[in-house]
Amino acid sequence: MALPHVTALECTLCGETYDPERELYTCPEHEGVRGILTVQYDYDEVVDRFDADLDGRIESQWKYRAFLPVDPDADPVTLGEGGTPLLDAPALGEKLGVELGVKDDARNPTGVLKDRASSVGVTKAQATGRDVVTCASTGNAAASLAGYAARAGLDCRLFVPADAPEGKLAQPLVYGADVLAVEGTYDEAYDLSMTVTDRYGWYNRNAAINPFLVEGKRTVGHELAEQCRAGGPNWSGPDVPDWVVFSMGDGCTIYGGWKGFQEFYDLGFADDVPRFLGVQADGASAIHDAFYDHDDVAEVADTVADSIAVGRPRNTVKACTALEASDGAAVTVSDDEILAAEATLGRTEGIYAEPAGAAPVAGVEKAREQGIIDAGDAVVIVTTGHGLKDTASALAAGGEVDRIAPEIAAIDARYDSDR
Ligand SMILES: Cc1ncc(COP(=O)(O)O)c(C=O)c1O
Ligand SMILES: [Zn+2]
Repeated sequence: MALPHVTALECTLCGETYDPERELYTCPEHEGVRGILTVQYDYDEVVDRFDADLDGRIESQWKYRAFLPVDPDADPVTLGEGGTPLLDAPALGEKLGVELGVKDDARNPTGVLKDRASSVGVTKAQATGRDVVTCASTGNAAASLAGYAARAGLDCRLFVPADAPEGKLAQPLVYGADVLAVEGTYDEAYDLSMTVTDRYGWYNRNAAINPFLVEGKRTVGHELAEQCRAGGPNWSGPDVPDWVVFSMGDGCTIYGGWKGFQEFYDLGFADDVPRFLGVQADGASAIHDAFYDHDDVAEVADTVADSIAVGRPRNTVKACTALEASDGAAVTVSDDEILAAEATLGRTEGIYAEPAGAAPVAGVEKAREQGIIDAGDAVVIVTTGHGLKDTASALAAGGEVDRIAPEIAAIDARYDSDR
């Protein structure tokens, strides 16, 4: 498979570089999967092949194909991922004291930002003649991979924690995947998936270790840079916001978003780079703790926001790079704050996100309290996952449903004053 625009895979720990056409997940110089690799590009080659107008009209992330680490001759496996709207959010912005936009990435084909990565991963798997793909996931990446595997006609085997929300287990079943619910944590499901990948040689979509997967997530950064500047489809804020906010689990999503924006700045397609704010749960705060050099980082993952319930993030180094390079910050929020944020986002703006997708709202509130984000700053939060993925949390956030008798009296008793 030819990758003329990719120059090397580079280890984030020791700096060793490897041939990008070699199938390698992590640097072999380090124990386990610690040696996470980054993908390096020849940007002259990328720009030569990139001829799209940055006019804010984005049909899918394949508009940025020249930036994606796939063979230029490969047929993309696509369900129309990317091209999600950037919406002004004035009511919620007023509540938070900022000029707010929401990049609603829950609008992706399987309801999650991860479709950007799955599309790239399955395109690569198909182009290299693989017929089985696998991943470990807190739920969303698994459901996403299953959708793209179905689209490509590949077999899909998934490792998810048995206590993942039902919606995230049901979805990949409908896509025809083998869903293996591991009686353990996400971290245990992850370790098992790695052993299995070695033993069976399936193509591994684990975004945190497969260096190419996170590269698909860069397109959310490309889109943000383009949409902010073009003012579309519904953004009246500045060309470059002061802050962009993501929740963090393994840490690859915020890194992908930052890297995409940074590339556009480096190439002169954006005037500046926003500061990135990473949001974690109080009960799963390893990246936040590492960023602020806390001595004993607990390997716990206890939060209602299951998508970011990660005790041992695999991409702490990449996430901290995004935070450091952008002069960013990290905050943690409680489960009550996350559920309140889910309800607030729905009520004020009509946007339905799962807990990890709504956590950035709570993060902005926390960052305002702590003086990290100033009043009036332009802030874009990225809602990464759809509320329909986890209806149990939605009910916890939204409150009780009223059950009524099928009689007009029941309505009159409640709304009499409206008559
Ligand atoms: C909805 C949602 N938001 C945020 C994240 C966090 O992404 P990352 O693990 O790349 O930090 C995930 C990952 O599962 C997710 O599914
Ligand atoms: Zn190394």
